Amino acid sequence: MSYPEALHRHLVTEVEDAIERTKSFPGSWYADPEIAAVEKAHVIRRTWQPIGPIDELKTAGDFLTCDVAEAPVLVVRQTDGGVKAFGNMCGHRGHPVAKDSGHVPRGFVCPYHAWSYGIDGTLLNAVRGELEKNFDPWCHSLKPVRVGVWGEMAFVNLVAEGPSFEDDLGELMSLADAEAIGLRTWHYHKTLRWEQACNWKVFMDNTADSYHTAVVHPHMTGTHKIDPEDYITRSYSNFAFHTPLSLGGEANMPPWKACGAWPNWTVQGMESSVSTLRIIEMVDAGNIRVKVDFFAPEGASDEDVEQAAHWNYNLVHDEDKPGV
Ligand code: FES
Ligand SMILES: [Fe+2]
Repeated sequence: MSYPEALHRHLVTEVEDAIERTKSFPGSWYADPEIAAVEKAHVIRRTWQPIGPIDELKTAGDFLTCDVAEAPVLVVRQTDGGVKAFGNMCGHRGHPVAKDSGHVPRGFVCPYHAWSYGIDGTLLNAVRGELEKNFDPWCHSLKPVRVGVWGEMAFVNLVAEGPSFEDDLGELMSLADAEAIGLRTWHYHKTLRWEQACNWKVFMDNTADSYHTAVVHPHMTGTHKIDPEDYITRSYSNFAFHTPLSLGGEANMPPWKACGAWPNWTVQGMESSVSTLRIIEMVDAGNIRVKVDFFAPEGASDEDVEQAAHWNYNLVHDEDKPGV
């Protein structure tokens, strides 16, 4: 039995035991660097990951770069209007072919030995490659990475096999769009980032936990029904939809709604603004980096978005931080 299989069986046994005894998972799962490394390799790197808004990629050759679980990724607008993603590693010795974001009118030139690539990732020229016996340029194009787009948000999946973007996230996207917290027609406004000293699972568990709401967020009792009996939660195969009902009345705040997606991101909000919250980096077993991108309907003012951001993050998430 290979190491991952042996570890997998051990973890499944631990999960079944914890569920059977209604106990928490072993403490080591939240602190052990070996467990964190397995999660990164077998969970984060094998699932569709939101990478950020692509509203800036307007014309062919516009690109951005990012890291997904430490894998460098390059996303490029194509001449047909579509978007392609690649491993941001030269086919020669692996140097990044692009950095930050920008526009390349004629493709990418690796800054190390000047191999050049088209915006579709094809190797166009390997300097002096013709002098090498058996050199096949087709084998050295940029490695494609699967990419999906929901409104202005792009997602990538680092593994070639597994469910397509539509098969994996189609149900979530349809439900979120129907509940007016989807990204299909909304526009990117702003980004928040922070670092937090906690294990990634603790952070994600908290985003789907209505048990703590009345205790940690007492101000919500004035605007929403937050008793667990009134808090709607519906579970699907790889996400959960949840919302506290609005109380109406004078404050008449529209209901806040969220889809918490497996394994490390959510889309959430209310009428005026929606945000995607995601863990962009597991620094180690006890530290994460979080990024939130805000989207709003056509014509929404920055003030609307600021108000929603203030309520959701300066208030609710700051209250959450000591607990997680
Ligand atoms: S590493 Fe890119 S050309 Fe050599
Ligand atoms: Fe909370």
